[in-house]
Amino acid sequence: MRTTTRTCLLLLAASAALAGCGDPYRDRLIENLPAEDPAFGPGELHRPGQPCVACHSSYGGAPEFAIGGTLFAATKVDEVPAMLSGYTIRVHDSEGSARDAVSNACGNFFIRSDDWNPAFPLLVEILAGDPAGPSALVPVSSMGSRIAREGSCGGCHVGRPSPISPGIVAIPGTSNASPNASVVGTCPTPWLGPDPHAPVQGAK
Ligand code: HEC
Ligand code: HEC
Repeated sequence: MRTTTRTCLLLLAASAALAGCGDPYRDRLIENLPAEDPAFGPGELHRPGQPCVACHSSYGGAPEFAIGGTLFAATKVDEVPAMLSGYTIRVHDSEGSARDAVSNACGNFFIRSDDWNPAFPLLVEILAGDPAGPSALVPVSSMGSRIAREGSCGGCHVGRPSPISPGIVAIPGTSNASPNASVVGTCPTPWLGPDPHAPVQGAK
């Protein structure tokens, strides 16, 4: 309903909390994310691992992204993974157009909706090499299936691999000691999914 949408946008503008606009799934997703790390604040290095587009959308109220996510080092299950800079994420849409994004100092990458409005489903591959010399880029990983409509890599790639998630996007052959790995401290603590030990809402 029109009025509801407008009230909702006003509330968003007035409030720091980005939730509460009538879609219980998205509201709960946003509410359950950890708070902003004050040492970094909102910006391109914030909230690594989180589902960027939940907030970076007309619904969430932050500047709109077509896609957004974070790249991680491949680590043991009990190690907090470092974030990887300098990889190229190449996204192909279903009409033959493609765009590159490069992971930043905290592994984050995004493509603004103003720059590209891709036709879903999407295919995605990851390449290594000097982003300034694209002819030297080499593929290091790719997603076999297509992304039907979710713009956040972190909407599916959550925490460790499990029956319900392929796990964070980790680059094979890397570690926290890789040259372009940034550990927690130089970057915010990454979101690795809901705390597996937290009580389940509604459970007996
Ligand atoms: C819980 C909501 C939320 C999540 C999740 C989130 N952001 Fe943000 N982001 C914000 C808000 C709010 C701002 C501040 C917007 C403003 O200043 O207008 C912001 C600002 C930014 C900015 C600077 C604004 C701009 O247009 O340049 C960038 C870049 C950014 N976020 C990237 C990301 C990336 C990448 C992710 C995922 C890894 C992410 N954000 C996840 C809410 C979020
Ligand atoms: C709709 C859920 C979904 C979304 C959104 C999604 N993925 Fe995936 N991804 C998967 C699943 C499931 C697999 C494992 C099976 C496969 O390869 O298709 C996977 C596998 C991958 C792989 C290969 C294996 C691995 O885990 O490293 C890469 C790389 C990857 N995805 C990158 C991305 C990136 C980058 C984004 C965001 C632009 C993204 N994915 C968004 C579901 C998703």
